[in-house]
Amino acid sequence: MISVPVELLAICGSTRAGGNTDQILQYTREISSERGAHLSIVNLRDYHFSVSGTCVDCNDRETPCELKDDMPYITDMMRKADGIIYAVPVQGFGMGHLMQIFIERSGVCYLRFERPLTNKVGGVIVTGRRYNHNHVYSQIVNNLLLNRMIIVGSGFPALLQGGKPSEVLGDIEGLDSVRRMVNRMIDMVKTIKHYSLLTNQSYLTFNEGNERMIGEDLLQPLKKH
Ligand SMILES: Cc1cc2nc3c(=O)[nH]c(=O)nc-3n(C[C@H](O)[C@H](O)[C@H](O)COP(=O)(O)O)c2cc1C
Repeated sequence: MISVPVELLAICGSTRAGGNTDQILQYTREISSERGAHLSIVNLRDYHFSVSGTCVDCNDRETPCELKDDMPYITDMMRKADGIIYAVPVQGFGMGHLMQIFIERSGVCYLRFERPLTNKVGGVIVTGRRYNHNHVYSQIVNNLLLNRMIIVGSGFPALLQGGKPSEVLGDIEGLDSVRRMVNRMIDMVKTIKHYSLLTNQSYLTFNEGNERMIGEDLLQPLKKH
């Protein structure tokens, strides 16, 4: 068996240091480490990034955003990772605002040009007291798919119940779903890396480029008529 390094990155959208989402990510780090994988954690609350939309041309401009903040640092870390886990609490029946702002801004201002997350393995963890986890989960899954990431089926989604800090650690079924997800992510990263090493080829090479430009290409034949 060839040994390959596995670099995972978790993006944490919780505002509460030491809260449930942080605790789940510590658990995730332990599972990763048992498998010889390394997990880095980016706590969005520790970084400065702006709300997008102040210039109102995000969706039309052809060059990355000119606002100066920590977004390039975070997206660079994402580029270097083999797998990325998005972890966020439910707030107000929706996605915690830090993650919402992060997804909007990283997506529209950085990731949509070259889709640098293509073929990275993605995972989602949602914490919350009781209500609407699935809604948040689906939103992030759509985002991972938009970024052409690979989502590995691993059983029930990693939705964890807990309100006060540490309550999630009592959600045995939730913990089990996290464990299964992380293990399957690591397996998939290893499979992909082994394939590249053994064949000296890349994988899933079909690449359509930016969706918006392809949209234009598709319109060309229609425009002739
Ligand atoms: C402002 C706010 C809104 C919340 N809204 C919801 C909600 O709609 N559904 C839910 O299940 N939990 C909700 N919660 C509970 C949190 O999701 C829960 O406490 C979670 O464990 C917080 O994660 P954290 O400890 O990492 O911050 C809310 C908490 C706060 C502070």
